Amino acid sequence: MKLTEQTVLITGATSGIGLALAARLYEMKNTVIISGRKQERLDEIAAHYPRMDTFCCDLQQEDGRVALAGWAINRYPKLNILINNAGLMKVSDFTAEVPFEKIAEEITVNLLTPVHFASLFTEHLQQQENAAVVNVTSGLAYTPLATVPVYCATKAALHSFTYSLRHQLRETSVKVFEIIPPAVATDLGKSDGYEQNRSMAMKLEDFTNDCIHRLENDEYELGIGMAEKLQAEREGLFQMLNPDS
Ligand SMILES: NC(=O)c1ccc[n+]([C@@H]2O[C@H](COP(=O)([O-])OP(=O)(O)OC[C@H]3O[C@@H](n4cnc5c(N)ncnc54)[C@H](OP(=O)(O)O)[C@@H]3O)[C@@H](O)[C@H]2O)c1
Repeated sequence: MKLTEQTVLITGATSGIGLALAARLYEMKNTVIISGRKQERLDEIAAHYPRMDTFCCDLQQEDGRVALAGWAINRYPKLNILINNAGLMKVSDFTAEVPFEKIAEEITVNLLTPVHFASLFTEHLQQQENAAVVNVTSGLAYTPLATVPVYCATKAALHSFTYSLRHQLRETSVKVFEIIPPAVATDLGKSDGYEQNRSMAMKLEDFTNDCIHRLENDEYELGIGMAEKLQAEREGLFQMLNPDS
């Protein structure tokens, strides 16, 4: 995929992986549009990257998702790459009742949003050359971490949806990618008390370098670092259990 002079929308780019990808794509002379919930944070980022455009919305809300899609397509008729990156991870213990709002937020942002965006954006994207949908899943889509069960389930479902979307769009101009991150040094889950082992986490810069390089090389399922191992081991086990497949 060509990653210069393109028009790219990245959701959840006020921090972490989204912001790192946005900054790199900006440096590579793309038109970059980012979204997030915090206007103040978006303004700070726009001050730092003057050619970057921003849109503030809560992806939990249907009208927020529809507003972002409508605004982006109208304002940027050449928009050709959508990166569904926004996500959150919550610690949930199902030995007791888990608040419904907590479960719904995780499923809505991590899974419902990229599925809804596939529906809202693909007609527009098919009119563009070199178009792409890039969904950010997780190594935990392949092997769950039981303390964050809803998160893992959303990412496993997003992996499945991405696979189907790639198949449905195979005769169109739209390529469908899945970025499968390992543990990367960001604040994901921190607000819910999740403590990341930073010594095990990949540096954001190394992660971004690998992502960009492999997207440019049209790798459709980018298992990065440790996530590549989880992906390969699952495929190995599948072959072992299904020797005739
Ligand atoms: N870091 C890792 O170890 C890791 C591993 C595997 C996969 N991933 C995936 O990578 C993606 C980025 O995560 P990250 O590590 O960079 O975490 P992060 O720094 O916490 O970034 C998450 C982003 O999602 C946005 N977001 C969350 N809820 C939202 C909502 N309701 N509406 C709009 N935006 C919302 C946040 O923006 P606001 O707070 O401004 O709204 C933020 O920009 C996620 O999909 C995550 O699952 C991360």
